[in-house]
Amino acid sequence: MTEATANTQDVILDIKNLKVNFYTYEGVVKALDGIDLSIYKGESFGLVGETGCGKSVTVRSVMRLIEEPGKIVEGEIFYKGNDVLKLKEKEIRKLRGAKMTMIFQDPMTFLNPVIQIGEQVSEMFLIHQKIQKDILDNKKKLSKYLKEKVVEIFDLVKLPDAAELFKRYPHELSGGMRQRVLIAMSIAADPDIIIADEATTALDVTIQAQILNLLNKLKKDLGRTLIFVTHNLGIVAEMCDRVAVLYGGQIAEVAETKALFVDPIHPYTQGLLRSIPLLHKPKDLLDSIDGVVPNLVNPPSGCRFHPRCPLKEDICAQERPKLVKVLPEHWVHCHVKQREYEGKV
Ligand SMILES: Nc1ncnc2c1ncn2[C@@H]1O[C@H](COP(=O)(O)OP(=O)(O)O)[C@@H](O)[C@H]1O
Ligand code: SF4
Ligand SMILES: [Mg+2]
Repeated sequence: MTEATANTQDVILDIKNLKVNFYTYEGVVKALDGIDLSIYKGESFGLVGETGCGKSVTVRSVMRLIEEPGKIVEGEIFYKGNDVLKLKEKEIRKLRGAKMTMIFQDPMTFLNPVIQIGEQVSEMFLIHQKIQKDILDNKKKLSKYLKEKVVEIFDLVKLPDAAELFKRYPHELSGGMRQRVLIAMSIAADPDIIIADEATTALDVTIQAQILNLLNKLKKDLGRTLIFVTHNLGIVAEMCDRVAVLYGGQIAEVAETKALFVDPIHPYTQGLLRSIPLLHKPKDLLDSIDGVVPNLVNPPSGCRFHPRCPLKEDICAQERPKLVKVLPEHWVHCHVKQREYEGKV
């Protein structure tokens, strides 16, 4: 067990020492440098950080969706105790729909433009849910059953006129409605984990709030585990039980959301939060800290934050810190803070 998993909670997803490279003409991009993360069953977990820090690569690794020129070069990802990285392609395909689903920014990538949306959601239901044999064997019964189920799910995700909507095609819907259809497909697949990767970024603020509330309701009512990937701290503050801050392919800090916002420990998180005047105002991370995001072809040695860090010491450039538990439910990746908090838990 990594230190981040040493707790009594039920860990559903356990990422250990995950390293991912991209082999490009410019050189090897060391996108993830030993990510350790444990996600608890039934929580909503936020993954935040500046653009390019490795959020999407982390969650895509969990789904085994890293494509050429990318490669997972080291690490383990346990889902309920099984290493996802060791599963056969057939097994991982099953896991992807049935146990974990991902909602992306652009729903059109996943919706088939020439199939009615009701049918697309039915298909997910049919593939992933157990249906009684007498219904399965009777075409008419099955069609009626699926329609009822899909309309139920459309109601759940607050898609209006569910019965009428069944026959619509994706291009006939607004962006917000398409995003709801995607969430409906996720529910139809009945997964344990729903990953939303900047899923609401392109939507206007009101629709964004509605979708986020909907996802939170799924967590509360259906006990799903949610992973929110976002560069928006406002979303994290409002939506997430716990949060991990990523910097340059390394985890800087993991904590309960309130603790992170009220009492951040890692120098990067501290800088990030200091630069936000009003926490309830959603704010991009992009322009919050002096200096630039590290070049991941030649990343800074040791702690990748050291060129920008006000607390930097010699050791910071020499050795990569460990992600260490410094307080209950609070882990930090920092030599100086590790020493400062030594013995406090
Ligand atoms: N297809 C790719 N080819 C080369 N490099 C990539 C590719 N995808 C991601 N990367 C690298 O991985 C890093 C992390 O990317 P990503 O996880 O998408 O960032 P974000 O935190 O914005 O989601 C990027 O800085 C980029 O250098
Ligand atoms: S390890 Fe060193 S450089 Fe990195 S955050 Fe801590 S003090 Fe700063
Ligand atoms: Mg991303």
